[in-house]
Amino acid sequence: MRFQHVLVVGAGQMGGGIAQVVAASGRQVSLHDEVPGAAERSVSAMERSLAKLAEKGGPDPAGVLVRVTPVDGLVPADLMIEAVVEDARVKKAIFQAADGILPAEAILASNTSSIPITTLAAATGRPDRVIGMHFFNPVPVLKLVEVIRALQTSDETTTAIVELAGDLGKIAAEARDFPGFVSNRILMPFVNEAAYALMEGVAEPEAIDTIAKLGFAHPMGPLALADLIGLDTCVSIMEVLHEGLGDPKYAPCPLLRQYVAAGRLGRKTGRGFYEYT
Ligand SMILES: NC(=O)c1ccc[n+]([C@@H]2O[C@H](COP(=O)([O-])OP(=O)(O)OC[C@H]3O[C@@H](n4cnc5c(N)ncnc54)[C@H](O)[C@@H]3O)[C@@H](O)[C@H]2O)c1
Repeated sequence: MRFQHVLVVGAGQMGGGIAQVVAASGRQVSLHDEVPGAAERSVSAMERSLAKLAEKGGPDPAGVLVRVTPVDGLVPADLMIEAVVEDARVKKAIFQAADGILPAEAILASNTSSIPITTLAAATGRPDRVIGMHFFNPVPVLKLVEVIRALQTSDETTTAIVELAGDLGKIAAEARDFPGFVSNRILMPFVNEAAYALMEGVAEPEAIDTIAKLGFAHPMGPLALADLIGLDTCVSIMEVLHEGLGDPKYAPCPLLRQYVAAGRLGRKTGRGFYEYT
């Protein structure tokens, strides 16, 4: 099996989900977060997720959890999957540090929603072995992995990551390294427009989401989805689209910015467009 040991950096909602599916595929996972205790909390969340999945025929939770080890810093591994906050400076620093710690043949992947993979690759001495591996939320449930090739990514790296996605039970779709790739270039302007509709008093949040759910057959409305993604992440992605594509239509909605300034980040803080208990 390729990639026997995977280092996941960032133990938030995405990093935890990624660690879970990688461990469920039989691989060893080291999970690191800069916040002390975050990786351990993530393992507890995995326990709950795995218990639910086991009721529907998923893997034995204990057998998966035993393969996940919280670690205090970056450690050598065959593959790093980075899933820290959507901030280019933070990600670049992690790629530079990982380049010095992981063996030269290891692949460095980012779960970024929008930050150019080409710049992350350029921060390392192995740009041909840097790639975007963009999972979807919730990771144990959603099947898609958007695989993003940097300008420098080799065919061999791309093939290895597409194969890994298949091995994790996912379906890979390849995209080139343009702002927001494919998924967020389409999704985020939709979320942003829903925030504008709310700000301009066109409809209440429930009505906006009901119209999208029943009218477009979406499983969730855009405001509920933004709460799931995290409003801070949504603003960061819109900023990347705005800066990268240079069109004012991508400017983040002021209401989204205001909610972020108030600490209403969505589900992860208990309040966004909706309240969560
Ligand atoms: N939320 C989504 O629906 C979603 C979907 C696909 C991709 N993503 C991407 O995944 C990444 C993580 O998003 P998330 O929703 O899990 O965010 P999150 O806020 O839940 O978690 C981010 C984690 O990164 C940690 N962190 C920050 N700086 C760090 C550092 N220097 N070293 C180690 N850990 C650090 C934080 O402590 C936090 O635990 C982002 O790039 C985001 O764009 C998010």
